[in-house]
Amino acid sequence: MNAIGYTGGKPLNDPDAFVQFEQETPSPSGRDLLVEVRAISVNPVDTKVREKTSEPQNPPLILGWDAAGKVISVGPEAELFKPGDKVFYAGSINRPGSNSPFQLVDERIVGSMPKTLSFEEAAALPLTSITAWEALFDRLRIPKNKSGKSILVLGGAGGVGSIAIQLANKVAGLKVIATASRPETKKWCHDLGAHHVVNHHENIPNQLNEIGFETIDYALIFNDTDKNYPSAAEAIAPQGKICSIVENQSSLDMGLLKSKSASFHWEFMFTRPMFKTPDMIEQHLLLNEIARLIDTKTIKTTVNQIMSPINVENLRKAHDTLEKGRTIGKIVLKDWPST
Ligand SMILES: NC(=O)c1ccc[n+]([C@@H]2O[C@H](COP(=O)([O-])OP(=O)(O)OC[C@H]3O[C@@H](n4cnc5c(N)ncnc54)[C@H](OP(=O)(O)O)[C@@H]3O)[C@@H](O)[C@H]2O)c1
Repeated sequence: MNAIGYTGGKPLNDPDAFVQFEQETPSPSGRDLLVEVRAISVNPVDTKVREKTSEPQNPPLILGWDAAGKVISVGPEAELFKPGDKVFYAGSINRPGSNSPFQLVDERIVGSMPKTLSFEEAAALPLTSITAWEALFDRLRIPKNKSGKSILVLGGAGGVGSIAIQLANKVAGLKVIATASRPETKKWCHDLGAHHVVNHHENIPNQLNEIGFETIDYALIFNDTDKNYPSAAEAIAPQGKICSIVENQSSLDMGLLKSKSASFHWEFMFTRPMFKTPDMIEQHLLLNEIARLIDTKTIKTTVNQIMSPINVENLRKAHDTLEKGRTIGKIVLKDWPST
């Protein structure tokens, strides 16, 4: 099979940074599925792993942790899927990624693809949906009882924000205040169901006050934790909860939360597969629930740009766009070139 790999230690514009290379198609053991990958999506984790890989890689490192495809064969202990099933998944950071025509993935972190979506529409969803779902319902433990409480989504138009706005509104019944800084990202957030949009480059607590929110019950930090955490800590209600998905560069002052008995939580969507936690099947279940929400038209896919085919040139362009930090929704690549 002809996978795309990163050769290591090279800048993105080096013509040899990404290469297409021949690899043997693996066969599944245990609870693994062998999936024929039909569409992939790119995420900031791809560019972060690429940047951290300073040593030459031989064989090249297969990046990519978002895919939709068809099951080809299953390991002897697999019980959730059979050959021919359409699936979508993010995979695990400590295994080869999805920038490959065939990939092995543990069935416990795989969902049945939404029936109403194409492969490319489905590939946009897994990584960001797992992140947003776990942040809302596993880390912050927000009840799905339409409480009418408020949530601030810092970074609303990005990949994770685009699905989090929908889940917060449609599943948790929260009042959603998203942040965006440009007319097109503001419109994107409103179209996804944000009740209000404020600008993350301006004073957040002041803007919240102006639209009638003295405090907010929950906050999700999807960008620049160092800058956004103090604003979230100031705006959070007594006993409120904050969750960040982005690593901080300098230490965060937890003292800001003390008098309000507010709490801070981390979400890392690779925790379950990386440590093979006993509850890793939760990702299978939540992806199936995402598919149900899509098929009942409760939420919609977040794909905004589709590139074809899946080759070195398009992958480089996708990384370049992501690195500019202004992506709206998701970028997807589909169709392997015919050889
Ligand atoms: N922990 C995890 O499991 C996990 C999972 C997924 C992603 N992540 C991390 O989460 C981050 C976001 O991922 P993503 O896929 O959503 O990224 P993305 O799609 O690249 O995010 C782009 C968006 O960020 C917004 N933005 C730029 N500067 C901002 C700021 N200072 N404050 C708030 N928003 C800002 C932009 O909005 P405007 O153009 O309107 O400014 C843009 O729409 C990345 O660092 C990624 O590595 C972590």
